[in-house]
Amino acid sequence: MVMLVMGLIALLGTSSGRSPGSLSWPAWAAGQAKEFQMTFPLGIPADLWELMIPEDNPMTEAKVALGKALYFDTRLSADNTVSCATCHDPRRAFTDGKPVSEGVGGKKGARNAPTILNAMFNEEQFWDGRAKTLEDQAKQPLVNPVEMAMPSHEAVVAKLKQIPEYVKRFREVFGGTDPITIDHIVQAIAAFERTQLSGDAPFDRFIAGDEKAISAAAKRGWELFKGKARCITCHEFNPSSPFFTDFKYHNIGVGMKATKNFETLARRVQQLAERGELTAAELDKLSLAEGFSELGRFLVTRQPKDVGAFKTPPLRDVALTGPYMHDGSMKTLREVIEFYNKGGEPNPNLDGGIIELHLTEQEMNDLEAFLRTLTSTYARALARGEITIAPGK
Ligand code: HEC
Ligand code: HEC
Repeated sequence: MVMLVMGLIALLGTSSGRSPGSLSWPAWAAGQAKEFQMTFPLGIPADLWELMIPEDNPMTEAKVALGKALYFDTRLSADNTVSCATCHDPRRAFTDGKPVSEGVGGKKGARNAPTILNAMFNEEQFWDGRAKTLEDQAKQPLVNPVEMAMPSHEAVVAKLKQIPEYVKRFREVFGGTDPITIDHIVQAIAAFERTQLSGDAPFDRFIAGDEKAISAAAKRGWELFKGKARCITCHEFNPSSPFFTDFKYHNIGVGMKATKNFETLARRVQQLAERGELTAAELDKLSLAEGFSELGRFLVTRQPKDVGAFKTPPLRDVALTGPYMHDGSMKTLREVIEFYNKGGEPNPNLDGGIIELHLTEQEMNDLEAFLRTLTSTYARALARGEITIAPGK
């Protein structure tokens, strides 16, 4: 049976004459006889998807449904007001539309919420790559004091154990005598996230050979993206990695004006590390704390060259995911393009690939027209309310 959400994509796809690929295979784990079937939007390679599913967290329909329920459940937060979907809202291409996210009690972090669409393909998670997998990632917001603010993972587990429906569903999915554990919670959430894909954008149809799928301006923009504007050197695109990112970290200067005392902050992080106090939870707190947040990739590597470097974000659905950059400091795509045109923000760590571009008005318009062809059928339909996704079986 095809899952409902993806089934809808398939419907949308076929109704306009396209037939996205699909894939099914027997679940690896013993005792899970049911097959899991996925339908893929145009442009997203099924074999890569399959490769990215961890062997210790096979996909099953019941697990995905459970993960979806957890994803939308505000009871995973300290005061029952915040869920994953609060900050990664399907109606906003799984972002929150705010410069920086607000968690429990309206507390603000220091970073902009990225989309979870295609997040499963990220080599590392978060703007600074501090989590390796979706499972690792999902553990952090639950206990971050400015996000879901639960006192501990044990507290999350204890809370869910009070809810009979979850006791039943965890047992169905994971079996055993004590099925509700933090690892099972994040495994289910990650399995749900792995069904949330972005593809089948006008640009994908263009790449697949439909010359009419995008405008002449967007075609010129694509040529600029690959050529004069040099965007593709970091926002890599090729059929086997069609995500518009190299998954690497670069300093393009975004936050370099905001904070002056980088040295002091960096020294403080170094000290914490030396004292063995830079735990995953501590690192997560620092990442969302003003000032420290701007250290970027340095927080993970503690290499001076990484101060102010952030992960190249993927660009699919970018027309729907503003405001932009790790700190949400740019409101519009035009603002982003103008920032690149002037050569970013000069600072000692500025990436060598960022130089003045000398783009004309027309060229900047074309580049923006191209970026606007990256909106997926799925995210657009959700944003327009043509389809909805909500928990339930
Ligand atoms: C209060 C808002 C908020 C909540 C609640 C929240 N997130 Fe996030 N999420 C963010 C922000 C902000 C970031 C970026 C932080 C950073 O990179 O340092 C992020 C990053 C991520 C990423 C990494 C994406 C990437 O491209 O690197 C994933 C995946 C994700 N969140 C999933 C989840 C899941 C699953 C939950 C629920 C368990 C959740 N988030 C809860 C705000 C939130
Ligand atoms: C040297 C590598 C590099 C080059 C070249 C580059 N980018 Fe980026 N891009 C990045 C990084 C890194 C970020 C995130 C920076 C941050 O938040 O501090 C980013 C962010 C963005 C964002 C914001 C996306 C979001 O979700 O917030 C857009 C849009 C974007 N780039 C488009 C472009 C365009 C268009 C070009 C060409 C004119 C380009 N980039 C060239 C590395 C690059």
